[in-house]
Amino acid sequence: MRIIFIGFGTVGQGLAELLLEKKSILLKEYGLDFTTIGISDTLKGSIFNPEGIDLRKALDTVKKEAPLSEGAGEKYPGDALAMIQEANADVMLEATYTDIKTAEPATSHIKKAIERGMHVVTTNKGPVALYYNELNSLAKNKGVQFLFEGTVMSGTPVLNLLRETLAASTIQEIKGILNGTTNYILTRMEEGLSYEEALKKAQEFGYAEAMPDADVLGWDALAKVTILAKVIFGAKGKPFDYPCEGITGISSSAIADAKSRGKRFKLIGKIWKEGNLVKASVEPAEIDLSHPLAGVMGATNAITITTDTLGEVTIVGSGAGKRETGYSMLVDLIKIGGQK
Ligand code: HSE
Repeated sequence: MRIIFIGFGTVGQGLAELLLEKKSILLKEYGLDFTTIGISDTLKGSIFNPEGIDLRKALDTVKKEAPLSEGAGEKYPGDALAMIQEANADVMLEATYTDIKTAEPATSHIKKAIERGMHVVTTNKGPVALYYNELNSLAKNKGVQFLFEGTVMSGTPVLNLLRETLAASTIQEIKGILNGTTNYILTRMEEGLSYEEALKKAQEFGYAEAMPDADVLGWDALAKVTILAKVIFGAKGKPFDYPCEGITGISSSAIADAKSRGKRFKLIGKIWKEGNLVKASVEPAEIDLSHPLAGVMGATNAITITTDTLGEVTIVGSGAGKRETGYSMLVDLIKIGGQK
């Protein structure tokens, strides 16, 4: 399988490491062998080689903070769209920064790749939250797959669970903690760190978005809520159609006060149905300490799914991180090309 990376930041590198680490399992158990033929990144530069790029060298080069072309291959002069146009790849891996307002440049990358007949795997929330229906139809018409497991709860298999494992169930409500950064900040603030210190740590661990405002204002959780509303509930709404409030109004003293009353602040995303209407929201809520969501700490995420078949199903797992989000892309790649 010939692949190109569009975006080689935290997530792209997380996937590259896993492709190297799992090489023999992928070949032995799924008959999958990957050749990377291009990497395009606005900060790290671009390299292209139809014969194949050494991913180990690419990872070592970016680790040294050198441009990719100074250690891993020949410099590619064009931009991402030019590479997608030129590359004869089977899959385009889109892991550029999320822009929840415009969904660009990721949407253009995805459209171009689908037009070229490539499967697309993305962790970019913008295109799915804004243009899921259009992109999905485009992919169907072209007979390619458009997969985005990592957009909600990183590698924790939420979309696969909802779309496949809970087959024929009616999903009545989804509710939970959908942003790792804010949950991490609230956790550390409760332990005594200031808001700024906690945010800095979340950035160091690679949880936060490139513009962390998107996390703390609730926009990242809103994007995920919108993705679930569209993909699982068939809603047509765009992110800012739903009410959204982040955690910037929550002080350390409010957190301590809530705790003294047996409560804990969590940023809660929720999607539910009222008749035929799909409703959604993101807002901080004081959760009773005895509730399962109150015990979900750090960058961990969790959702409770209310179904007509099983009642409530709760899934708890990582919601952000390099290896965790890289893993979601690996799972999508296996779905596209793996043979059991
Ligand atoms: N910034 C996001 C978070 C990354 O903190 O959850 C995963 O989408």
